[in-house]
Amino acid sequence: MSTTTTLITGIGSLVTNDPGQGAGPLGLLTDAAMVVDGGTVAWVGPAAQAPAADERFDAGGRALLPGFVDSHAHLVFAGDRTAEFNARMSGQAYSAGGIRTTVAATRAASDAELEANLARFVREAVRQGTTTIECKSGYGLTVEDEARALRIAAGYTPETTYLGAHVVAPEYAEDPAGYVELVTGEMLDACAPHARWVDVFCEKGAFDGDQARAVLTAGIEKGLTPRVHANQLTYGPGVQLAVELGAASADHCTHLTDEDVAALAGSATVATLLPGAEFSTRAEYPSGRRLLDAGAVVALSTDCNPGSSFTSSMAFCIAVAVREMGMTPDEAVWAATAGGARALRRSDVGTVTVGARADLLLLEAPSHVHLAYRPGVPLAAAVWRAGVREV
Ligand code: NIG
Ligand code: FE
Repeated sequence: MSTTTTLITGIGSLVTNDPGQGAGPLGLLTDAAMVVDGGTVAWVGPAAQAPAADERFDAGGRALLPGFVDSHAHLVFAGDRTAEFNARMSGQAYSAGGIRTTVAATRAASDAELEANLARFVREAVRQGTTTIECKSGYGLTVEDEARALRIAAGYTPETTYLGAHVVAPEYAEDPAGYVELVTGEMLDACAPHARWVDVFCEKGAFDGDQARAVLTAGIEKGLTPRVHANQLTYGPGVQLAVELGAASADHCTHLTDEDVAALAGSATVATLLPGAEFSTRAEYPSGRRLLDAGAVVALSTDCNPGSSFTSSMAFCIAVAVREMGMTPDEAVWAATAGGARALRRSDVGTVTVGARADLLLLEAPSHVHLAYRPGVPLAAAVWRAGVREV
């Protein structure tokens, strides 16, 4: 079957994330062009050497980069938590318990309502340049409600994560061990067919180290790969457990000891930082600088959820990471693209290299640095997902 080829030319600055292809870790090319063949990247190089193609798109000197890879989001839910946010901004502290408010609203919602919400958030993310998004369950907390969340999510992304262990379900308030049994037994059986990953909120007020280990181990035995909500609100065992179990990612990483940093640096576990959560809970940001200097691989992600981080904007996360977390614009852009791909163990996204999926973000700007330099400005001029123009 023949496919249509498109030449994108006039790219003022192209982030390839392939150091073999251009300058620095971003593999930056100037005055570049690329060819998309069907859904994949077929050629990348200097504009002057570009081959012919069926169609042509002139980037007009603007910056092109891989679409964002948002490796951590909670998008199957109903309702919102405006009042809780409002109270927090008047001085109240954030706690894991707020999750139960969304659980009640989510359980009461129809499948159609949940799917409509999810579709709206995914569309919102795409409009801002996100071309791969992970999606967790965790607002159902019954066998049926967790399974339906994942079934619905699987219609929108292959990156589905079973998070039955988000908090202890209200029905099990007096019997957390019984809830862990459910999460590692019947609920896991119902959810595993719709999930790629298993996650647990390892935190005070959620699940302790032993419970988290039980959840992750059970998931692994069912063929799921672990990722962990680790060290968000307090120091704790989450990061060490993630590394020990070979998790793809330890997420949040806000409160880290030197040993935690060293463990991440010496492992294949990506440290995924979620600045939207600290922003919206008025908390201290994690230090991207400390992790990068130690040699850890860092990803940036939105954590989009109605409680702790109701943003779908990867550009916002980049801007905050640069301003508040000691990351350079180059490091933050890498973390939001190639870093997210690493956190999802994907080699087909997060780069603009021959053979990669043609997931592209064209900025209304001459450089990717503008993502941090122009905070809050909608810079997505065009977005392609698998070669299809979405924006
Ligand atoms: O990643 N930390 C756990 N889960 C979410 C918050 C969920 C909520 O408050 O509804 C997070 O921040
Ligand atoms: Fe989260």
